[in-house]
Amino acid sequence: MSYRVSVLQYRPQLLKAEENFARISTMLSELDTDLVVLPELALSGYVFSNVSELPLVAESIPEGRIFNGFRDLARARNMSIVYGFAESAGDQYYNSCALVNPDGSFYIYRKIHLFNREKLFFSPGNRPFAVFPGKGGVKLGLMICFDWQFPESARSLGLLGAQILCHPSNLVLPWCQEAMKTRSLENRVFSITANRTGTEVNADLKEYFTGMSQIVGCKGEILLRMNETEEAIYTVEIDPDLALNKAITERNNAYLDRRLDMYTL
Ligand code: ACM
Repeated sequence: MSYRVSVLQYRPQLLKAEENFARISTMLSELDTDLVVLPELALSGYVFSNVSELPLVAESIPEGRIFNGFRDLARARNMSIVYGFAESAGDQYYNSCALVNPDGSFYIYRKIHLFNREKLFFSPGNRPFAVFPGKGGVKLGLMICFDWQFPESARSLGLLGAQILCHPSNLVLPWCQEAMKTRSLENRVFSITANRTGTEVNADLKEYFTGMSQIVGCKGEILLRMNETEEAIYTVEIDPDLALNKAITERNNAYLDRRLDMYTL
């Protein structure tokens, strides 16, 4: 099966959700692909200084204006889109990502492993890792940024049948891109890590984001890696069905050879 997968890397403007959405819409308007993954918190920026900034950029689902803009784009361009956003739900905020499909279906993942100051603003995800159908029924596992640190995230998604890990990110530590090669290899799944670029400053806070968004094959091979600063979309053609084969040798299988009775989890 031939499937085009894309990764979008860019630098959002802090707290300018409408402007950021307009920019992303322009970037996506000519894109010919089956699936595109965008960064974590792609509309809001990342460096919040105060919880009072959240209502300026957060959206509730399914009525959010930008969420519906992405649904329209998915329909019009006949592609699945995964993007990170600040989700408002009752009196809680979640660091979430949405999968929106060309047939109008949608799914939400709420980040389970919050990173550093995110804990000041967001509630941790309250739903287990899950796999959802993207365009063409391809099974997509959703995880966000710091979830990479915990191998249980990708392992859970792989065991649930994910063929592609969709991984919106705002990376500030230097290890994730290399670690995701291993997450792909140990689970024999594709992974798409969409990072942002640039330095963001808010009050006395400052973060540098490492770019280097990438698409990794199910043997851990880098199919595409961007540089630290570019703002662009790249597309790679893959066969997601390769991720259904967990065989390593004729006598080894990445999942069937596990020794659950020997592990402490
Ligand atoms: C991160 O989880 N955004 C570092």
